[in-house]
Amino acid sequence: MLLITLSWIRGVGSVIKAPIYGCWRWVSGAGVVCLFVGSVAYAAPPADGKAIFSTTCMACHGSRGEGNTKIGAPNIAGMEAVYVGRQLSNFLSGVRGASANDSYGSQMRAAVGVLKTDADRIAVASYIASLPQIKSTTEIKINDGKVNMANGSTQYNAVCSSCHESRAQGNAQMGAPSLVGIDPVYLERQVIAFREGSRGAHKDDKTGALMRVGANMLPDAKSAHDVIAYINHLKP
Ligand code: HEC
Ligand code: HEC
Repeated sequence: MLLITLSWIRGVGSVIKAPIYGCWRWVSGAGVVCLFVGSVAYAAPPADGKAIFSTTCMACHGSRGEGNTKIGAPNIAGMEAVYVGRQLSNFLSGVRGASANDSYGSQMRAAVGVLKTDADRIAVASYIASLPQIKSTTEIKINDGKVNMANGSTQYNAVCSSCHESRAQGNAQMGAPSLVGIDPVYLERQVIAFREGSRGAHKDDKTGALMRVGANMLPDAKSAHDVIAYINHLKP
């Protein structure tokens, strides 16, 4: 009895040129004999971003990427693929989330550790980008005396808009993500993390370094709350 198999090369989902071998293997025999028969371009099996998301990410980020405020997992559906991919690599390498007291980041580090290849990370980032955004319903109250909206507006327009644009829609060329509709509690925690250096201070974090400049231009930590309240109430 004969079995004929083709060599199968796993790549990053792109079309690669690979030789095809006809392999003859006797079921009862020990060895495999392969003969080169030609060279053909064909697609490697794509990593399945949706399947990875369901098994690895959904438990914390929700089935539609809507996030879970109870555990601090942000709504990620619709985030730009390049930004998501960069964050996954950052968590994996410890550029992000490795500070001693970063309990939120360490959860994410454990999760990305499960992804085996760049292809897996690219596939899941593309899948997240393909999902429609589900805006956070968390609203920062602005009438409780804790928010200075005038300061928020002044700081946003003086400091943040140069990179995140006037409606917080982001600037891909700068690497500055859209902040529209993202959980404000999460966003504020990030601004503080950038100020304090638990995010963005790693020597390999080039885009994080840009953002650190912005976060440190705020006169005080309280202004982070004002500025996030301003973003939270921005009309599109
Ligand atoms: C155990 C819970 C948990 C799991 C599982 C998990 N995450 Fe997260 N994720 C979080 C938390 C918490 C944060 C916020 C980290 C922080 O505050 O710095 C986060 C942050 C992120 C961010 C950063 C978003 C931003 O705006 O910068 C991305 C992207 C992300 N997760 C994608 C994923 C993907 C993709 C998976 C599956 C491979 C996954 N997460 C699995 C809890 C989780
Ligand atoms: C010099 C450009 C620059 C300025 C100014 C700037 N940012 Fe950023 N910001 C960035 C970049 C680039 C990133 C992406 C960092 C990364 O790749 O981890 C970022 C990321 C962020 C994040 C993290 C988003 C997420 O999903 O995790 C928040 C929140 C944020 N910026 C808010 C602000 C606010 C508020 C201001 C004003 C006080 C501001 N930024 C000023 C460039 C800037």
